[in-house]
Amino acid sequence: MMTREHNELITPTGPGTPVGNLFRRYWIPALLFEELPEPECPPVRVKLLSERFIAFRDTQGRLGLIDEFCAHRGVSLWFGRNEENGLRCPYHGWKYDYTGQCVDVPSEPEESGFCRKIRLKSYPLVESGGILWAYMGPPQDQPPFPAFEWTTLPATHCYTSKRWQECNYLQAMEGGIDSSHVSFLHSGALHTDPLHRGTKGALYQRDRSPKFEVVQSAGGLCIGVRRNAEEGHYYWRVTQWIMPWYTMVPPYGDNALNAHAWVPIDDENCFTWTFTYHPTRALSALELDTMRNGGGTHVKLIPGSFRPIINKDNDYMIDRAAQKAGLTYSGVMGIAMQDASVQESMGPIQDRSKENLVSTDNAIIMARHRLRKAALDLRKAIEPPALDPACHRVRPASFVLPAGIPFDKAKSDAFEAKEGLAHTSI
Ligand code: FES
Ligand SMILES: [Fe+2]
Repeated sequence: MMTREHNELITPTGPGTPVGNLFRRYWIPALLFEELPEPECPPVRVKLLSERFIAFRDTQGRLGLIDEFCAHRGVSLWFGRNEENGLRCPYHGWKYDYTGQCVDVPSEPEESGFCRKIRLKSYPLVESGGILWAYMGPPQDQPPFPAFEWTTLPATHCYTSKRWQECNYLQAMEGGIDSSHVSFLHSGALHTDPLHRGTKGALYQRDRSPKFEVVQSAGGLCIGVRRNAEEGHYYWRVTQWIMPWYTMVPPYGDNALNAHAWVPIDDENCFTWTFTYHPTRALSALELDTMRNGGGTHVKLIPGSFRPIINKDNDYMIDRAAQKAGLTYSGVMGIAMQDASVQESMGPIQDRSKENLVSTDNAIIMARHRLRKAALDLRKAIEPPALDPACHRVRPASFVLPAGIPFDKAKSDAFEAKEGLAHTSI
C-alpha cells in the first residue's frame, strides 16, 4: 500500500512537478527515425511529459522540436509548410527555424527586426540507434548521450517499436519490474509465441511462487527472481530496471533481448517502447516478420497511428473460449496486449492507497522508493542516478544455479553488456 501523497508525488510528470523535473534531466526516446525520415517531410505532433510540440526535419536534415503553437495567434504548426529551412505557419506565413527562432513575419518590414524578437520554446532532438531523443531539461544540465546496448549495435541486430498505452507510465512500468505475473498472465502465450515457445525458460514458469531477491545497481535495480528447476537447482530470471523508466526483460533461449521504455505522454497516457536486439547476430527474417505482425513483445497497430488494433474500445478482443481452454490465460492475444489490458484496467492512474502488496512486489516497492528519493533529492540539488552512460551498459539474464549460490555474485559477468559477447540465457 502506498499513501495517497506518495502516489500523487510519483505519478504526475508535467512541468514543475517533482518527477517531471526529474524526468527532464534525462534524454527521452521521443520519435522513431521513420516518423521523420527525410528533409522537408511532414511535421509530426509530439506530446511528452504533458507538453505539446511539433517535430520536423528541415531542408538540411536538421531536427527541430518546437512549441506546437504559432506565436502569432496560436495555430498548430502541424499544418505548417516545411520549406527552405523552416516551418511556415499557413495562417499568416510566420516562419520558424529548427531552433524555434522566428525568421520571417511577412506583414512586418524586414528592417523593423520584429521577427528576431519572436522565439518558440524548443529542445534538442538527436538521432541515435534509429530513435530520435529529446532533452527537455535545463541546457547546462544536459547529460552525456545514453549508451544502451540497442543504441550501439548495427541496425540489422535491432528492431524497435512504440505503442500508445492508455494509462499513467508508472503502472505500465511496474508491470516490467514484476516478473511474477509471467507464470499467470503470459503462461499460455509462452507456449505459442514463436519467440518464446520451446525454451527451458517457458517450462520453468510452472513454479508459480517465485522468490524475489533485489539488489541496488548503479543505475537502478538488479531484480533476481528464482523458481524451482531440477532437484537442488533454481531457475533465475534477472530483470534490470534503469532509472528513470527502462526495464530489460530476462531472455528466453537463443532469442534476442527485449527492453522497454515507459515514457509519459501526459499523466494518463504513455508510450511503451520495445527494443529487441541481439548482441551478436542480425535478427532473422522470421523474427522480424513475427515482430512486425505483433508477435514477441510487439503489437499490431492501427495503420497510421500508434494505437494497438487490440485496445480498450473493443474490450481487447477478449476470447473467452481461448481463456477457458488455456490457450491464453486471460483471453487476450499477445504478450504486449496482455500486459496493456490489465494495466489500463486499473484506471488512468492507479489508486495505490487501495492496494495490498505481497513479497513478489518487493522490486516495485524499491523502484517507487528510488524514484521518490531521486525526485526529492533533486530539490536539494543532488544529481539524479543513471545519468552516467556506464549505468546503461547492463543486460538482463536467465540461468540455472545450484541452490544456495547468490545470483548476483555467481553470475555478475552476465549482467554486463560486452561488445561481441552473447547474452546469458536458457
Ligand atoms: S497564427 Fe501563425 S501566422 Fe498567424
Ligand atoms: Fe508482462
